[in-house]
Amino acid sequence: MGNSFRIGSACARQLAQHGVHLALTYSSNLASITALVNDELKPAHPDLRISIHQVDVSSAEQIEKMFTEIDAQHGQRPDILVSNAGYGKRVPNVWDISLEEFDYTITVNLRASFILVKGVVEHMKAQRWGRIVFMSSIAGYGGGINGCRKHPPSPKKNKKGKRKKKNLTCVM
Ligand SMILES: NC(=O)c1ccc[n+]([C@@H]2O[C@H](COP(=O)([O-])OP(=O)(O)OC[C@H]3O[C@@H](n4cnc5c(N)ncnc54)[C@H](OP(=O)(O)O)[C@@H]3O)[C@@H](O)[C@H]2O)c1
Repeated sequence: MGNSFRIGSACARQLAQHGVHLALTYSSNLASITALVNDELKPAHPDLRISIHQVDVSSAEQIEKMFTEIDAQHGQRPDILVSNAGYGKRVPNVWDISLEEFDYTITVNLRASFILVKGVVEHMKAQRWGRIVFMSSIAGYGGGINGCRKHPPSPKKNKKGKRKKKNLTCVM
């Protein structure tokens, strides 16, 4: 999944070197994936079956369509799933992140992996073998340079060093 650029294309190269047939995907970058497959992978590995599929993983329907294409072109579901497609914008302040941006990020980076696993797991169970690799980022579990800042700005204090206002805590 998501092989048109850096980590995805590196995974594709490594898997090809180990004799693995490939169903590679892209979302918008057809030129990169076509160059990777036609100029590099196919000449180096003529015995491998390598297919290209366009999919927007934010759409469950498009993921389903991709699996239908893979069934037709490879005659089976993947034995190895690499869920690499990722989306992220570096927005340091939580108040600058819209709900739409949050929802889209979760949909591409989390929900898509769930749908992809559901698409391959029955095949893996039936043959009692399979491998699933999830690609993620440190931004997925912490703040810092890639995510929201870890600490909010310190509250203003009065001259005696005490906080001017008590914070409101909501416990659910
Ligand atoms: N690079 C790093 O330093 C780093 C560090 C930690 C984690 N990661 C994680 O590793 C993964 C790959 O990183 P990368 O740096 O190789 O990313 P990248 O070069 O930006 O590539 C992202 C890939 O995801 C695909 N993609 C994006 N949105 C998609 C969508 N809605 N549907 C389908 N495919 C979509 C892109 O396809 P198109 O190009 O065709 O649109 C592309 O192939 C990501 O999950 C990222 O969070 C990267």
